[in-house]
Amino acid sequence: MLYDLGVIGTGPGGLAAVAEARRRGLSVLCVDRRGAGGGVCLHEGCIPSKVLLHGTHLYRHACDDLTHWGIGGGSRLTMDVKTLMAKKRAVIAGLARGADSLLKGAHALSVAGHAYVTGRDKEGFCVSVHKKESRDDKGTLYHVRTLLIAIGSMPSRLDVLPSGVMDSTSCLSLDAVPEHLLVIGGGYIGLELGSVWRRLGARVSVVEAQKHILAGMDKDIRQAMHRALTKQGFSWHMGVRVESCHVDKGVYHLTLGHDDKRQETLRASHVLVAVGRMAHETDMGLRAMGVAYDERGFIIVDDGFRTNVDGVCAIGDCIGGKMLAHKASGEGVRAIESLCGVVSDRLQEEHIPAVIYTDPEAASVGLSEDALGDSRCAYKKGVCFFRANGRAHTIGAMGAMDGFVKVLAYDDDRVCGVHIVGTQAGDMIAEATQALRFSASCEDIMTQCQAHPTLSEAFVEAAAAAFRASPHHP
Ligand code: NAI
Repeated sequence: MLYDLGVIGTGPGGLAAVAEARRRGLSVLCVDRRGAGGGVCLHEGCIPSKVLLHGTHLYRHACDDLTHWGIGGGSRLTMDVKTLMAKKRAVIAGLARGADSLLKGAHALSVAGHAYVTGRDKEGFCVSVHKKESRDDKGTLYHVRTLLIAIGSMPSRLDVLPSGVMDSTSCLSLDAVPEHLLVIGGGYIGLELGSVWRRLGARVSVVEAQKHILAGMDKDIRQAMHRALTKQGFSWHMGVRVESCHVDKGVYHLTLGHDDKRQETLRASHVLVAVGRMAHETDMGLRAMGVAYDERGFIIVDDGFRTNVDGVCAIGDCIGGKMLAHKASGEGVRAIESLCGVVSDRLQEEHIPAVIYTDPEAASVGLSEDALGDSRCAYKKGVCFFRANGRAHTIGAMGAMDGFVKVLAYDDDRVCGVHIVGTQAGDMIAEATQALRFSASCEDIMTQCQAHPTLSEAFVEAAAAAFRASPHHP
């Protein structure tokens, strides 16, 4: 059979593309080496980490804060890590069933294995699917008219680290609380997984090459998160790199190098490396077919996610940019529209929100104040602190009142960036994302009627403050 579309990789990007293709009546062949839909996001990324973050948040919340509400007995509470892990597996299994139902059915075939594009003929492309990546088995051959590559990315490695060092996958599956977890990389993964194990009692130290955690985020977010996590007991080694690491009797010994050549040594029972993600090393036969890659190994695509080879599109982490599940899904839908000849508006990088699910949460969309300063663009700024928000007071616990909403706008009042630290920041950013998407002004936002009492009133107040502010001229 000749399928209209072959989708290689069924993470959030591939799944969204399959759903859109099936809505449009295309027959689809899906191939994923995992043998289940959902990709890294579902099986070893966003979903499991959020289960662990939520469970450990409940635990800490109960231990630390409920006495203020007259709820006692906190000191007797315990958290069973094995049960927490079982809960995580149950959530993954439930969502995986949903993903699989999307991949199967009329005009859709889902195949487990490693795909290799062996070439093209006058009808389309030949895809050989193998049990192993080495392709030493015979493989099964399929034919597809067009191809969508959605194979994601892989964790970056550090050559100085010995085997046994954890990546995010293994750190999500520990069956006991580490005594001292040393996290290399103060980004999304480092702070989220560091939070999980810190809440359960691990000592957590973060080694970060830059002078700040969360590089690329707005400076006020970076500082607020640094303060909040320090209060929770994180310790920091900033502006240093790991120069060497060895294991002796189950203990990791690391030598860290500072920019001024100073060295320090650290010992830890567990090491997690979370220094970003990189392109997959395998090219699945695409290079031989002439598909162009950039110097970092990412597939080059145009605005419609088309590669330079007619009939081949690529989306998600494998084309670079922000490595976020929701970016991949948005691109998946647009790539199918583009294959079907529909011209849709581009997914703009600055309209893609980012959330860090620590406590407090941090969420951002659009330009940071640092980026506006660098571009020498006049801008206005308004901030509303949650301590001025009624709903934050009613929530009270776990630093709900420590956060803020910061709205940045161009000189003409159009909102160009929103940055939030606080409880539920990850949900609140949705409204800000819409504001940017529809080019809302601060005046539009401040004149809307927001329900009371809600945390979202702080967004309206911050927009009103930005509306009234005089522009900064960097
Ligand atoms: P990241 O890019 O967020 O952070 C990596 C950090 O490691 C950076 O601060 C970088 O300066 C530091 N670093 C790099 N080399 C280093 C070295 N040699 N020594 C010490 N520090 C070093 O990457 P991360 O945390 O690994 O996450 C990977 C991707 O997964 C991210 O791009 C993120 O988009 C995605 N992700 C998203 C989440 C979310 O949406 N909540 C959660 C987890 C991951």
